[in-house]
Amino acid sequence: MKRIGFFKSLAGVGVSTLGLSTLSSFSSYDFDLGKIEKFPEHLKGDSLDWDKVRQDFPRQRYEIYMDNASTHPTNIYTAWAVQRITEWTKNDVGEPWWPWWAKSRDEGKKLFAELINADPSEIAHARSTVTAESDMLNGMDLKGGNVVMTDLHYTESIYGYKFREKNNGLEVRMIKCKDWRFSVKDFEPFVNKKTKLIAITLVSNVNGFIARDVKAISDLAHANGAILYVDFIQGVGAVPVDVKAMGIDVAACSTFKWLMGGGKGFGFMYVHKDLQGTVIKPTLSSGGVSFNYAPWTDNPDPTKPDIIWHEVTGPGMYEVSYPNYEGVIAAHQSLRYILDLGVDNIQKHNRALTDRLLKEMPRIGYPTITPPDNNSPIVVFEAKDPKETMRKMKSAKINVAMRFGNKMRISPSVYNNMADVDRLLEVLS
Ligand SMILES: Cc1ncc(COP(=O)(O)O)c(C=O)c1O
Repeated sequence: MKRIGFFKSLAGVGVSTLGLSTLSSFSSYDFDLGKIEKFPEHLKGDSLDWDKVRQDFPRQRYEIYMDNASTHPTNIYTAWAVQRITEWTKNDVGEPWWPWWAKSRDEGKKLFAELINADPSEIAHARSTVTAESDMLNGMDLKGGNVVMTDLHYTESIYGYKFREKNNGLEVRMIKCKDWRFSVKDFEPFVNKKTKLIAITLVSNVNGFIARDVKAISDLAHANGAILYVDFIQGVGAVPVDVKAMGIDVAACSTFKWLMGGGKGFGFMYVHKDLQGTVIKPTLSSGGVSFNYAPWTDNPDPTKPDIIWHEVTGPGMYEVSYPNYEGVIAAHQSLRYILDLGVDNIQKHNRALTDRLLKEMPRIGYPTITPPDNNSPIVVFEAKDPKETMRKMKSAKINVAMRFGNKMRISPSVYNNMADVDRLLEVLS
């Protein structure tokens, strides 16, 4: 079977019906991700077909899955690419595949930059959101300063600030959100000339609240000589992000949520070019060395020192070692998919589903803690009897999350449809 033929059949029947023997009949040499331009045609313009998008995600065949804020399933194209690299590690391994992997690495960064309106020279690979935030803090001069954040920031990250209060002399200033939301007004009394940074989560994992006045919060930070860090793992890919228009200085995410990227432990970090190496110093000692003397070289260059140190500049200064290959490959494919589909379309599609949930759930006894007119794909409702609610969901094969005791989080995505929402409402009614 020719590669494109294989790809077409994969699009038609779904990856789950493909045997490994089919996959292993491909040698690594004919596998060129960069050449697979036969990407689905149902993602764009007049051809946009949500039923076909639904078929791209086999997860929906078995159950109703609306827990994308926990982990987003991959589409068949991304899954195929990841399976292919697994085949490569099993059967081939070595240099021949390198150019294609490196191409995916570079293309992925470019596509991610496009997605958030940054320059590729501002994008580093990250091990995870929290790791990137931690690396940023390690590279900053925090002593004697303060950080301002809200209690809707990611809890594990909040602990990271507490840790630095204890060990690095950083004062933690926590805003207790009223009505499950915040605005720039809430920050004003807390920010002063000693503020080193404001840290916010673009879309809250707790209730889906989407920060609305990011630019005003950025202006407040900048007016006080501070920077703005944004955890955008629950937004990027599902809601529009423009780091320049929003005045974001540093941001990070993993790819396993709204970037539909596959495994955990891989993501992206954005660092504004003016901050690289200065306000945000590298802490990973990214660089190399060459020896300009025998026996290392037959022709030492007398104009150069014996030991030549090579410092990494640009966003690579925040990276060390190889990135996760599978993460790179998955992210590249998923970013292509997301950009083809268009974030505005994705947001509109999800909004129709969340609007219906926001309208109907309170009527059947589940009040919401998601603020009105919220344009994120996450909606959260309080359950009177969380155990019983989850029992009903489980027996109807509907996946949602119950967090913080009684807070039921529903997070539909591109492959969900109104029938999924209707079924959930029916089960809870
Ligand atoms: C808002 C938010 N930030 C960070 C994380 C953790 O992400 P990572 O594993 O990339 O550090 C999560 C995961 O649920 C999250 O919801």
